[in-house]
Amino acid sequence: MREGSPHAPVRLTDYQPPAYLLDTVDLHFQLDPGRTRVRAEMALRPNPAAGEPGAPLVLHGQELELLRLELDGEPLTRAVYSVDAERLVIPEVPDGAFTVVVETATRPEANTALEGLYTSGGKLCTQCEPEGFRRITYFPDRPDVLARYTVTLEADRASYPVLLANGNRVAAGEGEEGRHWVRWEDPFPKPSYLFALVAGDLTCCTDRFTTASGREVDLHLYTEAHNADRGDHALASLKQAMRWDEEAYGREYDLDLYQVVAVDDFNMGAMENKGLNLFNSQFVLARPDTATDADYTNIQAVVGHEYFHNWTGNRITCRDWFQLSLKEGLTVFREQQFAAAMGSEAVARIDSVDRLRGAQFPEDAGPTAHPVRPSEYVEINNFYTPTVYEKGAEVVRMLHNALGPEGFRAGCDRYFERFDGQAVTVEDFLTALEEANDRDLRQFRRWYTQAGTPQLEVRSSFDAEAGTFDLCVRQHTPATPGQPAKEPVPIPLALGLVGADGHDLPMQLEGEEAAIHGSRVLLLRYEEERFRFTGLTEEPVPSLLRGFSAPAEVDYPYSDAELAHLAGHDSDLFNRWEAGQRLARTHLLAQADAVRSGGEARLPGPLHQAISRLLEAPADDAALMARALTLPDEGQLAEYMETIDPDALHAAREAARTGLARELREGWWSLREQFRDAGPYRFEPEAVGRRALANTALGYLMAEPDEAAREACMEQFREADNMTDQLAALRALAASDIPERQEALEAFYERWQDDPLVVDKWLAIQAASPLPGGVERVQALMDHPAFSLTNPNKVRAVIGAFAMRNPVQFHRPDGAGYRLLADLVLELDGRNPQIAARLVKPLTRWRRFVPEREAAMHAELERLRERAGSPDVGEMVDRALG
Ligand code: PHE
Ligand code: ZN
Repeated sequence: MREGSPHAPVRLTDYQPPAYLLDTVDLHFQLDPGRTRVRAEMALRPNPAAGEPGAPLVLHGQELELLRLELDGEPLTRAVYSVDAERLVIPEVPDGAFTVVVETATRPEANTALEGLYTSGGKLCTQCEPEGFRRITYFPDRPDVLARYTVTLEADRASYPVLLANGNRVAAGEGEEGRHWVRWEDPFPKPSYLFALVAGDLTCCTDRFTTASGREVDLHLYTEAHNADRGDHALASLKQAMRWDEEAYGREYDLDLYQVVAVDDFNMGAMENKGLNLFNSQFVLARPDTATDADYTNIQAVVGHEYFHNWTGNRITCRDWFQLSLKEGLTVFREQQFAAAMGSEAVARIDSVDRLRGAQFPEDAGPTAHPVRPSEYVEINNFYTPTVYEKGAEVVRMLHNALGPEGFRAGCDRYFERFDGQAVTVEDFLTALEEANDRDLRQFRRWYTQAGTPQLEVRSSFDAEAGTFDLCVRQHTPATPGQPAKEPVPIPLALGLVGADGHDLPMQLEGEEAAIHGSRVLLLRYEEERFRFTGLTEEPVPSLLRGFSAPAEVDYPYSDAELAHLAGHDSDLFNRWEAGQRLARTHLLAQADAVRSGGEARLPGPLHQAISRLLEAPADDAALMARALTLPDEGQLAEYMETIDPDALHAAREAARTGLARELREGWWSLREQFRDAGPYRFEPEAVGRRALANTALGYLMAEPDEAAREACMEQFREADNMTDQLAALRALAASDIPERQEALEAFYERWQDDPLVVDKWLAIQAASPLPGGVERVQALMDHPAFSLTNPNKVRAVIGAFAMRNPVQFHRPDGAGYRLLADLVLELDGRNPQIAARLVKPLTRWRRFVPEREAAMHAELERLRERAGSPDVGEMVDRALG
């Protein structure tokens, strides 16, 4: 039962500047996994901008043992300060500058929340964003308090030979009884959430980078000794990212040292601490035989992301956590630009839109919908969401497109120049863009304050005699919690008019002097707008929202023939893919409806034709073709279903897959033969595309496996010299009810049992297998020695994969999947509330499901409301029940 009243929300409108500023901090750590002592010396002074002379000094602190408190060198007694579970308050401090010394102790080994100072393997490490620093010492733990840090780390030399913190290593020495110490100084003022330390027995892979202005930067990547051969790709990615940021944004790195540490127990992907990034080892370690192409791609993106934060996040940071998307949306956008530059632009775009639709659109349509800049929260950890990250990036992309590349760059230059070293707001960013471009972005701000995915209803009519083509565009954003009525948002609608020969027709709006060839952008501002294109001698097929120019949903009554036409010819590669997906979606949903009304699902003819046409056409971009051949997944299809019936959707999609397997067997074989890569593994776009395509073909062959397919799959499983091919084979086997399945799973575990990251893949593949008995399989996996509840990667591999990527098993009619998930949330609630709260997500859309599932999910949410104790889980459940 939750104790006391629900936790009070924090509101954006309540923001107050800090009463005291912090100039310097001197931290001294006596590191010990059982009990670490911390001495913090803070030089404080009143904030002239706060206008609160004589205000009490409020320091945040959680789970700390307070050993000593001094003010200007004098010890303070309990009579003159107060301390509770969340803060320490000194009511009276001197008028001018003063010094506070705090000595505390914390228990890293007992820290299962993985926030603050904790242990992972034999290491000691920290995670401070957003509010973890307060678990290290009493401190003004808010992002608008920036200070210069000096950090001395003292530890047992044998267990912790490597001692790392932010900035530059300035001194080191020996202590007593086998202890040693290292001192670090970070010359850049930073908020506490960017603080980090690492202590452990680590191997260092080194590299070097020369910045555009000729400064030498040492790159140090730390891993455990047995992983020392898995750092090359991350280091190469880091150098690519450093160069790219210089070229694309004119931003150079600013310290002489850039350190990256791989950590096995980590709540998130990675963390951009100044000069000392901490990475979930999943996003840093790679070797061809242990990591897939997807891993290599993710590593490149995440390494880039954390690096780009050095300017967008660290040099310029957030005033408060409501501004989270200021750094995250912008940095994801920069990461996406980088990914596009390192590979195929169209494929990069497809993959990021797929992520947006897979996670953000559902969030925006459900009870946890919130604006890119939320206006209140109970637990900020619950707001590291697809909306803040992915939709935030889309909003920046629209700004980029609206201002043009040069205008956007000029705006960013101004932002960097004007706010360097400060903690600012989304508003400040927009003002910089406005000023540099002499533009008014007032209406654009709605994208930050209004939740929900705009629906664009587009209708057309063609007048052959007049040669005109009219488009009527209506926008509507559905209500979201707390926002019943919505204003129109500005929507850049990129479009083209495709002619019968597949080429773009010239576009000339009524009243315009000349036609535009290729794509153009219509900026929509009103609820309804009409456009008349003139001079057309044939009826065009409109290609709408090219490149996914806005995070919106387009409704246009395309015929199958029109979609097939776009899928074959659209000059916009994104929309070529999109047309095929739309065609597939329409027919798969129709099949699902048929199943619901008692019929049987079959392979829809138009889908059959579309896929066979793709197989016949020459594949010049293998990666793109692989995506075009892949049917939209059940999770995404569900979003378009009136009332979600997971069984009907699964039946419809499976019927299509097995139908395509059967009807086009020859095509799949020859595709696989043509694209199988012979040479040694290389991570290059071309080779990645070939593997993706060959393995897509294998996936179809195994959808209804004959003897030959089974043999080929087992052979690939056994002989593959790289994890991409081996895992593709294993995934296909694990989803098939054939004897080889067990054999392969056992052999794989046997081979990789000592490799935690590979074991994660083995766990996830089984948890995501749609074969019957999913709940029991997941239970067995949780009892397996390879599983651990304390390691977030293991929890994500098993439960994450099950609840988010295995709809047909998770939504089992008897509710056993929901029960299993809720049990786990309760078990994690007291240990790692952040991870527990994330697992509530799959239950939040209960209202959308067929009645018996709806009731079963609701019952589990009620049980969580009764039993969960953390504010993290409490807030998610309250919002879900709404
Ligand atoms: N700031 C990190 C990133 O996006 C994410 C993160 C948030 C990591 C909170 C840990 C804790 O790069
Ligand atoms: Zn980030």
